[in-house]
Amino acid sequence: MSKTKVSSHTVPFFKASIGKEEEQAVLDVLRSGWLTTGPRSVEFERLFCEYTGARHAVALSSCTAALHLALEVLDLHPQDEIITTPFTFSATASEILHAGAKIRFVDVNPETGNIDELKIREAISERTRAILPVHFAGNPCAMDTILELALEYDLRVIEDAAHALESRFDGQKVGAIGDFTCFSFYATKNITTAEGGMLTCDNDVLAEKIRMLSLHGMSRDAWKRYLPAGTGNDDQPDYYQIMHRGYKYNLSDLQAALGIVQLKKADLMWQKRKQIVELYRSLLADVGEIEFFSQDERVTHGNHLFAVKLNTEQLSISRNRFVKMLKQAGIGCSIHFISLHLHPYYKEKYRFEDSDFPCAADLSNRVVTLPLFPDMNEFDVRYVADTVKSIINEHKISKLVSVNCI
Ligand SMILES: Cc1ncc(COP(=O)(O)O)c(C=O)c1O
Repeated sequence: MSKTKVSSHTVPFFKASIGKEEEQAVLDVLRSGWLTTGPRSVEFERLFCEYTGARHAVALSSCTAALHLALEVLDLHPQDEIITTPFTFSATASEILHAGAKIRFVDVNPETGNIDELKIREAISERTRAILPVHFAGNPCAMDTILELALEYDLRVIEDAAHALESRFDGQKVGAIGDFTCFSFYATKNITTAEGGMLTCDNDVLAEKIRMLSLHGMSRDAWKRYLPAGTGNDDQPDYYQIMHRGYKYNLSDLQAALGIVQLKKADLMWQKRKQIVELYRSLLADVGEIEFFSQDERVTHGNHLFAVKLNTEQLSISRNRFVKMLKQAGIGCSIHFISLHLHPYYKEKYRFEDSDFPCAADLSNRVVTLPLFPDMNEFDVRYVADTVKSIINEHKISKLVSVNCI
């Protein structure tokens, strides 16, 4: 029987910081009479360009949609390959398949959880078209090496920045580094629109194509078509033309209104998460059974997730049991990630062995993500850290050995 203290205190995995300003912004849209993509979406995109330094930003229904469209505009052929990490969410890989290409996984650096940039070169072939790094937990990948490889082999770089809104590499904001960058505003992300995403890019022609693809491939979006006479370009026809086989990936103004308010608060929320991470790190620093992910000194970490690695060989319980015990103590936690090559679909499709990507496989058995959100207070953080320590103390192998010796 576990002796871990039972407490009535609970800490959710995440709670979005939604205040009066967000409520008012959504209400204003509801009362404006224009709910779907329109002026708020345009404003959100403008502010996003300002925030990231990107030339273009297209607001979309999800990061998944952003990944799909970034890949789609590369006009991929069935033999083309996209290099990415297996230690990620399913969308990173599934969108490569939806865009009609092949996935080429490269193992991760176990210290950072990011794609191991030193292993990318050996995975490049004449069929490689792009590198798709994922900034795990908000920790930017080695973008200098990745960009150099892309230049050398004429590859595009598509960043999965679902976790990395506030991140920087060498002082440069994520969003203005690679050819395309894909952001998520899912409910638990650094800023949220409930569901939503953004695709940034610096290519005028491709940005325009992405915008059309996001709304059925139409030449004019609905908002512009419904402008009153005299407010738009009167020489333009009022009907649309289908220019491409498009999708329905636009973001509504209701969501964009939320995004505008959230984006203005992004840096403040990031500061709060950063302080929480610092407190966690100091409280857990002397727990030998826990290892932190490391980061390059040139990066600014987005602090999206506080994921840690359990040294399970020093414990009498598995990571899964550890997670269950945290949940029993009222603490919401999660696992980022179970490497995609271990999932039945990819295992079968590519005939993967667990050992094909040993670092990602090992991390998959050891990682646990603790609660992290801006409104967590010090008591919450201390409660989580104390519970983690208490579970570990109870299940240390060294403890079992010493007990056996008595
Ligand atoms: C690394 C990564 N990429 C992509 C996504 C997909 O984001 P969305 O839910 O906005 O499509 C997620 C979502 O959690 C993610 O963690």
